[in-house]
Amino acid sequence: MTAMIDSTGTVLPGHIAVVMDGNGRWANKRHLPRAAGHKAGVDATRRVVENCVKNNIEALTIFAFSSENWNRPVSEVSNLMSLFVSTIMAEVKKLNKKNVCVKFIGDRTRFSEKLQGKINEAEVLTEKNTGLHLNIAANYGGRWDIVNACRLITEEVINGDKKLTDIDEAMFDSFVSLSEMPAPDLFIRTGGEQRISNFLIWQLAYSELYFTDILWPDFSDEDFDAALNWYTGRQRRFGKTGTQLLDSEAVES
Ligand code: IPE
Ligand code: IPE
Ligand code: MG
Repeated sequence: MTAMIDSTGTVLPGHIAVVMDGNGRWANKRHLPRAAGHKAGVDATRRVVENCVKNNIEALTIFAFSSENWNRPVSEVSNLMSLFVSTIMAEVKKLNKKNVCVKFIGDRTRFSEKLQGKINEAEVLTEKNTGLHLNIAANYGGRWDIVNACRLITEEVINGDKKLTDIDEAMFDSFVSLSEMPAPDLFIRTGGEQRISNFLIWQLAYSELYFTDILWPDFSDEDFDAALNWYTGRQRRFGKTGTQLLDSEAVES
């Protein structure tokens, strides 16, 4: 996966991670039940997926349900679960036609058998697709991801497949979610909060962080373009100085 360059020569993010926040407040403002906000949130998600396909973005990872969201009222959790099932059923065939490869990250064992079945069907149907990689984080927590990697690595050390000295950052990285793709270049959070909320805490180490007050159901094509434009103005230094980067660009051109 490499950085995408659009028709104007601008480098677009290859991988975008989104915390889709603000559904509840969007509904409250309209005196609607929170469920209406989540439903409107699905439409916003569809728009962003379509935008990523249009812009040839290689990967989009969306936070659909965090490991902490089980703490919400039972009625809201069960509404969200039904919405996942109905959304997957309604959208997957269309996504498949658009050559989108759908994957879920997170601990799916806590979901109902029905939902786990829909998740598996979506993954199997789209697994060979070569277009946008759409990763859906469901019952996902960044700390869970890190602890899970530790467990898997420890198992390999205990059974002798790996040595303690084999453990380094690259090796660890291969055991966390999304190891098959580069880390997110751009992180977007809507809804005004400026926090990670236990999203991809390992993978976001060097992502550009973009926060907007817009509530997720209101997030429009223009708002998405604004985030991309903001990203194209960043200088990604990865510890180097700005002058070093300008010098190496001059050598390359
Ligand atoms: C994000 O919107 C969707 C989920 C967490 C599932 P919220 O439901 O958190 O909306 P607010 O933050 O209460 O407005
Ligand atoms: C993060 O949003 C999780 C999702 C968007 C699915 P929350 O609304 O749950 O985050 P906090 O708890 O306010 O930080
Ligand atoms: Mg929220």
